[in-house]
This record gives sequence, C-alpha cells and structure tokens, in this order.
Amino acid sequence: MAFDQLGNWKRTHHLNALRIEDKGREVVLMGWVQRRRDHGGVIFVDLRDREGITQVVFNPERSPAVHPKAHVLRNEYVIAVRGQVAPRLEGMNNPNLPTGEIEVFADDLLILNGAQTPPFLIEENVDVSETIRLKYRYIDLRRPQLQQNIILRHRVGACVRQYLNENGFLDIETPFLTRSTPEGARDYLVPSRVNPGQFYALPQSPQLFKQLLMIAGFDRYYQIVRCFRDEDLRADRQPEFTQIDLEMSFVSEEDVMALAEGMMRRIFEQIQGRSLSLPFPRLTYAEAMDRFGLDKPDTRFGLELKDISDIVGASGFKVFADAVAKGGIVKALNAKGCIDFTRKEIDDLGELVSVYRAKGLAWIKVREDQWQSPIAKFFSDAEKAELARRLDMQPGDLVFFVADAAKVVNDALGNLRNHLGRRLGLVDDSAFNFLWVTEFPMFEYDETEKRYQALHHPFTAPLEEDLEKLESDPLVLRSRAYDLVLNGSEVGGGSIRIHQREGQEQVFKVLGMAPESYEEKFGFMLSALDSGAPPHGGIAFGFDRLTMLLCGQPSIRDVIAFPKTQKAACLLTNAPSEAAREQLDELSIRVRRLTPES
Ligand code: AMO
Ligand code: AMP
Repeated sequence: MAFDQLGNWKRTHHLNALRIEDKGREVVLMGWVQRRRDHGGVIFVDLRDREGITQVVFNPERSPAVHPKAHVLRNEYVIAVRGQVAPRLEGMNNPNLPTGEIEVFADDLLILNGAQTPPFLIEENVDVSETIRLKYRYIDLRRPQLQQNIILRHRVGACVRQYLNENGFLDIETPFLTRSTPEGARDYLVPSRVNPGQFYALPQSPQLFKQLLMIAGFDRYYQIVRCFRDEDLRADRQPEFTQIDLEMSFVSEEDVMALAEGMMRRIFEQIQGRSLSLPFPRLTYAEAMDRFGLDKPDTRFGLELKDISDIVGASGFKVFADAVAKGGIVKALNAKGCIDFTRKEIDDLGELVSVYRAKGLAWIKVREDQWQSPIAKFFSDAEKAELARRLDMQPGDLVFFVADAAKVVNDALGNLRNHLGRRLGLVDDSAFNFLWVTEFPMFEYDETEKRYQALHHPFTAPLEEDLEKLESDPLVLRSRAYDLVLNGSEVGGGSIRIHQREGQEQVFKVLGMAPESYEEKFGFMLSALDSGAPPHGGIAFGFDRLTMLLCGQPSIRDVIAFPKTQKAACLLTNAPSEAAREQLDELSIRVRRLTPES
C-alpha cells in the first residue's frame, strides 16, 4: 500500500505522439492496458490514453528483470513504462494506427493501479445494454468514440466562446436558484430551508435574466449554460441540457440571424473543415408546414406534401369530403417508385401515422394501365386527372393520403415523410442543411387548459403588421421568432422581445393572466421594462443537439458525459433517491408514501 505511486516518474509523450522519426528516443509512457498478448515469451501491450494507442513490448532477452512483471498485467491496469522507441519488425506495421510503425521496448515497468475485470470491453459495438453502460459510465467513456465526442464538444464550446468574445459579447452567469422561467415544460423545484414551504425553480432557460442584462446595459451577453426542464425525454431531450444562450441590444431579426450564421460558419470551418454558404435559406412557418408538415423540416430530400383538399373536398370519398367539410384538410405524399411496397408494409406505415393520431392512411398504387387502390373508385375522371397532375403520379409510384384537422394531417405526413426519406435512402448523411424557419404563430390554443399559450415564450414580440389582431384574433398573429433547423432537428430558437411594459401586459392578458397574476409572477420584469429597456433580441442553441449532429451520433446521450435515462435517472449515482428524515424535517417537507399502484 502506498499513496504515491509515481515517485519521480514523469510522462514524456501521449500515446498517439510517437512516429518512426522518434526511433531510438528514450520515453516514459503512461496509460491503460487495452490488451495484452503473449507471443512465445514476448509480451505485447496496447497502451491506451485519450489520444491514442502505442504498442509496448516486453522482451525477456532485452529486459529480463522487467519481463516477468508484465505477466500480471490485465485489461485496464494503469501502468507507466520507461523504454526506447524502435521501428516495428518487417511486415508488422499497423496501418490503422498513427503510431503503427513503431513500438516501445520496455526497460522498466511501474504498475500504478490494478483494475477489476471491466463489465464490458472497451471497444466499439460491444453488445451490452445501455443500463450497464450508464451504470459504469466511467468505463464506457473510455471508448474512443465517446472520448472523441466529448473532446469535440469541448472544441465546439471553445470555438463558440472565441467567436462571441471577438464579437463583443460578455460571458455573464445567471442564477440557478430562481423563479420559474416558462419555456413550456414543467419546472424542477428546490425547497428553501430558510423559507419553509417555499421553493426555487431551476431555470428552463436564462430568458428573463438575459433580458434584464440588456436592460442593465451590457449590450451583448452570452453563456454556455445548463437549463432544466422536467419533460418527457427522447433521444434529443434531456432533463438538464446545455444552451449556447445569447442576447443583443439595439438589433432586429437580421442582426441576430447574421450573427448566428457567422457562428455556425466558424464552427463548421474549425471543427469540420467545411465552408458553409451563407445566408442560410429561410422558410416561413406557414410554408414549412405546407410543404413538409413539420416546423423543423429535413430539407436533404424531396417527397414534399401536397394539399389536395380543393380536388377531393367534394368527391365521393366520404372520409375526405367530411374532413374538408369540418374545416380540415387532405394532403398527399407521392412515394416515387414505391409501388412494390407490400400490404403488410403499407399497414405498418398506417400504424406509424396512427401514433400521430391519423385515423387512416389511404393509398394509390399507380400501375401502367390503372390505379390500384381501396379509394380510387370514389373519384371521378376529372378528379383523377387533377390528382395525377398535381401529384405528378407516374407508373411505379405509391401515393399516400391523410385527411383530418390540419395539425393531425401535417404531423402524420410530416413524420411519414421523414421515415420514408430514411428508409428509401434519400438522406445524404454527409450533408448539413441549415434552414431558418420564421414568422411562427404567436399563440396556440391549448385544448386541455382552454386558453392561449405562447408558441415560443411570452416575451416574444408580435410582427408589427399583425398587431391589430392581438386581441380580436390572436391565433392568426405571427411573431418575430425564428428557429434554426439543421437536418430536421431544431438546433436553435430565439426572437425579438417585447421591450415595453404595455405590450408585455397585453400579451399576458391574451394568455389569460389577470393583472394580479402577472404582477405576482413577472412584476419585476414589468418594472424593468418600464425603466429604460432597449429594443433587444436573442437566440439559444441546443449545444448538445448541435454537437450530436457534428459527431454524427444518434442521441444527445452520446455527447453528454453523464446523461440521464428515459426516466430521468442517473444510474451511476442512483439519483434521484429518497431523502433522510432529518433532511426533510429541516426543509419542512413531509412525503406522502406512494404505494406502487398509486
Ligand atoms: P428553446 O426553448 O427553443 O428557446 O430552447 C433553445 C434550444 O435548446 C434546445 N433544447 C433542448 N436540448 C436538449 N434537451 C432539451 N430538453 C431541450 N429543450 C430545448 C433546442 C432548442 O432549439 N429562451 C429561449 C431562447 C431565446 O428565445 O433566446 C429558449 O430557451 O435545440
Ligand atoms: P374505409 O373506407 O374506412 O375502409 O377506408 C378506406 C381507406 O381510407 C383505408 O385505406 C383507410 O386507411 C383510409 N382512411 C380512413 N380514414 C382516413 C383518413 N382520415 N385519412 C386518410 N385515409 C383514411
């Protein structure tokens, strides 16, 4: 037992550093045993660190005193080796390793620490459950892919800071123990010990604080900051995630968007070595919904949706006619050349759209001589001709239809489009398609709560030209919000803000808040707006999502060092966990014991 293992050993090189030019050099290497192989007395060890792998050789003839010690080495032992760089023997080069032309002959070995047999091998594609991986995250994080992801994340962050610093932004911290900042999710609450019965909310974003910083005159703010949202998790959502958050004074949409584009260009240049062409294309929300059915369209492939309500609204197919009569729509998607889809495959797609509440998925197969379809018989020749023209129906095509309220139709066909795009191999994985979506609706109607809600957040300004509708017809009001979409993923969102008290109060009222209620919740913000607030606006990027896309990874869990599971648990530390009685007493909290059924 000793606490200082290293003594005066000093590492000279990382494990991807040595090349054939270093032949003969005396080196000290340190790292983890990736693998030990015994070859007729000679022992080879692949030594690994975050930078790479170097082969170390224990030769009984060269170093008889050291060689026996190498026998005890096991996977993941941590060792230090003193030795000499030598070219590998003829024919033994490993072209897959940057260090593949050399090896290091060990003259001395120090075992810094042993290791239990790891629960899984440190290599890509090992077949273990995510549960085990998350429980032993520190082992999983040793995998080269995860190491590269985390390192790339660091580089993106550094690049962003550099760009924003150069552009006059100040990095200012905002509190975590605060009041609710509404962004459409539930809050995480933290009880206050010194104020029994009272709670802080962890911020869903620093929205109000960054606006207050503009009012305070800081002009340009940024922060790479953790946000907390208690919402249902998916591959691209975590309960705590990181935003690249910024706010600017005396600006319009154009200024914020240009700055964001410059930032993306810098990131892609530095991290990917690619140049992005600017400005990014823009679509209004209305056009995005019309053509793609989603407000975050993947524009790497076609398969655009077509509204055919005008053609089939008066047709003999009752499902379509009824939907249109009720104020709904009918839209179609032409899956070019997919005529060979089987009944089962089509039924499965029907299942897929039912997840988005579509009540059915009608289809037409376009054969040379006729249409094969359960619904073709309901259409007149004129309707058929018009459909064929609008949908560009050619022999070999398979056309899908959904009829319902616009929201359901768009959601169903938009997601079907993404599914087919991937399945038909239409998505170019090497492309990075950026897109701005603008002119979002200001409000949406929440059927369960029976009131309007802000689509972005309540601090977003409406478009000036729509202002007269604010009270009479809030649903048609468009906002000055913009989202940045990358390959079908929302990587950023922001807006120009309301900077005057009166406007902010009006919006709170549309949202169904009585003056007492908004005074109580946001009185501080209202008086700040009344104290010399400059026009301002900003944006926040999802740092995890952006990094995920840059790494080509399927989930943000792959770019977060210590992510949580679908049930918002940390399997490594076993959080959340019960609190001790004394702690709860101090917080004046009593927990109602929940039986498993309740
Ligand atoms: P918004 O709510 O659109 O805007 O969030 C900005 C970006 O953060 C990312 N994001 C998430 N990433 C991972 N997990 C989550 N649960 C999650 N939720 C959001 C998305 C999103 O585009 N205050 C405003 C910004 C502003 O108006 O300036 C805001 O938070 O990529
Ligand atoms: P039915 O007349 O109910 O047997 O439906 C005929 C076809 O229309 C089937 O392929 C259904 O999947 C489809 N269908 C039913 N409801 C809808 C709908 N709301 N939108 C699109 N297709 C539908």
